[in-house]
Amino acid sequence: MKSKLLIIGASGHGKVVADIAIKMNKWQSIAFLDDDKSLRSSMGLEVIGTSDDVFTHIDDYDIFVGIGNNDTRKRIHEVLETVGASIPILIHPNAIIGNQVEIGDGTAVMAGTVVNCCTKIGKSCIVNTGSTIDHDNCIGNFVHISPGAHLAGSVKVGQGSWLGIGSVVSNNIAITNGCIVGAGSVVVKDISKPGIYVGIPVRRV
Ligand SMILES: CC(C)(COP(=O)(O)OP(=O)(O)OC[C@H]1O[C@@H](n2cnc3c(N)ncnc32)[C@H](O)[C@@H]1OP(=O)(O)O)[C@@H](O)C(=O)NCCC(=O)NCCS
Repeated sequence: MKSKLLIIGASGHGKVVADIAIKMNKWQSIAFLDDDKSLRSSMGLEVIGTSDDVFTHIDDYDIFVGIGNNDTRKRIHEVLETVGASIPILIHPNAIIGNQVEIGDGTAVMAGTVVNCCTKIGKSCIVNTGSTIDHDNCIGNFVHISPGAHLAGSVKVGQGSWLGIGSVVSNNIAITNGCIVGAGSVVVKDISKPGIYVGIPVRRV
């Protein structure tokens, strides 16, 4: 771990990520990179360059991708891995994490979440505000669980899937890679084909 943290992306999601990092109180200084060159600061933290500048900071900073889009976050996270960056895990002090939970590098766990025991969460995921992931879930890499989504026990979510705000997944359900589950939608059967699913219960659109 380094004494400084650099967050790539200074807009909405990046700001929430910075807020967690500040509350974790582990870094002496925190700064952003953002591709909007007109942006000088965000959340009172300095924007010190664009994402292309990241390579010059690898030795001095822990680096975290604060971008909400799963594909973009994946792309940048994988570049960071390739160049050997130090990538932390960010967990809000008011998240509740059960025993034997595994969380991958580059994942952000937001305020008010509950991750129950024996759940595995991959790398570079977002476990967003007030969502709950119950026991024995297996969440793939680059997944986004939006605010207020609830996953019952033994749910599997495949790589790169995005569960929308307030969605619900019943127990023992498997959702394959690359799915989008709409806001407020309810999944009660396995989803084995990538796509966009909405409604109660979900239908593919
Ligand atoms: C699922 C979603 C991605 C679809 O977006 P889209 O591809 O632009 O789809 P459209 O808005 O064109 O909608 C397509 C159809 O699905 C319906 N639909 C879209 N989202 C829906 C939802 N959440 N629940 C029920 N129906 C929905 C639309 O009414 C439309 O139906 P119609 O064809 O009968 O008119 C989007 O609606 C959504 O729910 N996003 C989640 C947002 C979110 O969670 N944000 C949190 C970020 S932290």
